[in-house]
Amino acid sequence: MTQQLTAYPVWDRTVRIFHWINVLCVLGLIAVGVAILNSKALGVTDDGKLLLKTIHVYIGYVFAANLTWRIVWGFIGNRYSRWKSILPFNAEHRAQLTAMKKGAKTGKPIGFLGHSPIARLMVGLLFVLMSAQAITGLVLAGTDVYMLPFGNIVKESIAIDATTVDIIKPYSKEGIDDAAYKEMRDVRKPFITVHYYTFWVLLAAILLHLLGVVVSELRERNSLVSAMFTGKKVFVDKPFDAE
Ligand code: HEM
Repeated sequence: MTQQLTAYPVWDRTVRIFHWINVLCVLGLIAVGVAILNSKALGVTDDGKLLLKTIHVYIGYVFAANLTWRIVWGFIGNRYSRWKSILPFNAEHRAQLTAMKKGAKTGKPIGFLGHSPIARLMVGLLFVLMSAQAITGLVLAGTDVYMLPFGNIVKESIAIDATTVDIIKPYSKEGIDDAAYKEMRDVRKPFITVHYYTFWVLLAAILLHLLGVVVSELRERNSLVSAMFTGKKVFVDKPFDAE
């Protein structure tokens, strides 16, 4: 007997557009980030390194703007795109976990239209890691290549005097007060440390996220992947969190 499948709308257009812009940006940021990390071994010149960093920062602006819009959308979007339904450790998450455990005990697994309680842990982690990369990246853009939003303030703080602000350029000491520069680099240090280690954790989290999606798609067959294009998932039985 063939089972009747019902399609339920879940991801609104904003979430889907955010998701795919985010995928493209993260891939681009990782690729250029890895090139920056290995620039010495690749024999990249200072000009080449500056170009890599500038490209990385421009992709970073799109990434940070897209992420900011998604954070706002978490307060105004549809029921499934809201933080209440995305993040773990709240009342809704606990109710879902209880239902999931009960379903596993009775041998009748529960379907979830939005993120499953396990997926919420991963998605919550991804948002924290990406926010950390966006914040530290914007600070690095200012302190390393004097780009927006903090580049001008940084230049003013390290200039010998007001007349030398405009001649300050990346990879040049011209117009710079040595002591002020050293102080600025000390402030910057924890930001590059966080940016570097978060990169590795994010890489691992992205791989786990992909593995989780593939395993769920194969086991549950709810059109998890195509739902990020069409906005709809399919179920035989009404999912736990459907209206
Ligand atoms: C998913 C997000 C991101 C990833 C995976 C990522 C990855 C990386 C990696 C691997 C490096 C090399 C680290 C090093 O040289 O030690 C790097 C450097 C850098 N990133 Fe990002 N990044 C991200 C987001 C951003 C954003 C949003 C911005 C700014 C708009 C940014 C600005 C920079 C800058 C300026 C550097 C050069 C720092 C330096 O080498 O001194 N990044 N990034």
